[in-house]
Amino acid sequence: MTATAVLGLQWGDEGKGKIVHMLSMEADWCARFNGGTNAGHRVVYDRIEVTNNGNVTVPEEFAFHLVPSGSLNVNCTGVLGNGMVVDPYALQEEIEMLKRAKNSDDPNLYFSESAHLLMPYHPIVERSAGSTSELDTTAKGIGPAYRDKVKRRGARLGDLKFPELFKEKVARTLEWERRVWGDEPFKEIDGLMLCDAILKMFEPYLDRITDTGLLLNQAIDENRDVLLEGAQATLLDLDHGTYPYVTSSSATVGGIGVGAGVSPRRLDRIIGVSKAYTTRVGAGPFPTEDETEAGQRLRDVGHEYGTTTGRPRRCGWLDLVALKYAHRVNDLTELALTKLDVLSGFDQIKVAVAYEIDGERVEHFPAMPQNLEKCKPVYESLPGWQEDISGCRTVDELPQAAQDYIQFVSDFAGCPIGVVSVGPGFAENVALR
Ligand code: GDP
Ligand code: IMO
Ligand code: MG
Repeated sequence: MTATAVLGLQWGDEGKGKIVHMLSMEADWCARFNGGTNAGHRVVYDRIEVTNNGNVTVPEEFAFHLVPSGSLNVNCTGVLGNGMVVDPYALQEEIEMLKRAKNSDDPNLYFSESAHLLMPYHPIVERSAGSTSELDTTAKGIGPAYRDKVKRRGARLGDLKFPELFKEKVARTLEWERRVWGDEPFKEIDGLMLCDAILKMFEPYLDRITDTGLLLNQAIDENRDVLLEGAQATLLDLDHGTYPYVTSSSATVGGIGVGAGVSPRRLDRIIGVSKAYTTRVGAGPFPTEDETEAGQRLRDVGHEYGTTTGRPRRCGWLDLVALKYAHRVNDLTELALTKLDVLSGFDQIKVAVAYEIDGERVEHFPAMPQNLEKCKPVYESLPGWQEDISGCRTVDELPQAAQDYIQFVSDFAGCPIGVVSVGPGFAENVALR
């Protein structure tokens, strides 16, 4: 019976969804604590299809954006924590898909009354402000939704229980936005109709909008298995990431206190998820980016195209300086190393063990992007392997070079590796602990 956090260590898309889905088989609760539809967590699962000849299982993919990735397990209760920004339209769609995927009318979700609503005007504001192009965001309106939270005027899910207050808040915010950006960008938006539609949407779930921090802490008190699923990742964290090329929420372990109301002291396991190489989608420094054939190969073999936006992900080698930094920020109990299968077929695999700035060796991840941009990676080359490793389930089955690679990563990061993922399927893992 444990409380377990699953956190991204790089610039997102490490395979958090897959790891959470796998752990959720045993879990009673699974909570998201940050972000919104900027997240895209792909999970491969067995859908049960009822046929004339009995039940058959069909492997399918589910892309989670708002709902926690443990929600396909009917026994696992999902929570959208207070640190999230929730787009009601996207949520409605995702709930319908979830109900179909798990053959149940009950999505089994709770929503924090303190979570903020991401309204249709937030993406408009984001476009008008130019952040979508300048920062290459997901264009979902994440920044403006968190801005309203910080400005202390955001509409929260709990406000839906007070319709007049909710309508007033939305009207005031819209009026303010129109004054700043003009009427034109908002011409399709009628504040009152919008509020009525959202109130109607949440009617069936009003009693599920509650103090989810209380529920999660009670579950931990009762020794339930509780998962806390991070969205985005350490290097995209508003404070600890590569600012300003970051998201607007806390994606590190501290974000669990902030965004779920669960103290990190209550966690038994803090699992950091890292790909065996690195990707980044969107703008910002990326010292180990490889724009040669090797990077293209990682993109092709790893299917590195965004879950949320379809954008090609920038690809490169594993950055151990950044990994060590992510371990420092999160104090992990273990690593989950994903997509090791994608590295099969390289003669040599590079890993960055330090940087050089203007000829000087740097061992620590720089906080300022101005410095990070100047970093040239100092690589160590490790022998690759040719075999397809997606069928391996024990360490001994892995080629020696793959075993050595895992060991090198673990030793350098100073953190044990709990699991190595060798395919998107939930059983495609090599367990190490
Ligand atoms: P998340 O945002 O961290 O949940 O990651 P994404 O779902 O955005 O991206 C990870 C992608 O890699 C998904 O399509 C997963 O199905 C896939 N994936 C996860 N683990 C593995 C793995 O070990 N090998 C391969 N080949 N694919 C994986
Ligand atoms: P998951 O949870 C990868 C990136 C965007 C952009 C920056 C800011 O699937 O790992 P935002 O829309 O959040 O204001 O964009 O952050 N970004 C992600 N990249 N995976 C994600 O989530 C991301 N969420 C945001 O591309 O560079
Ligand atoms: Mg993703």
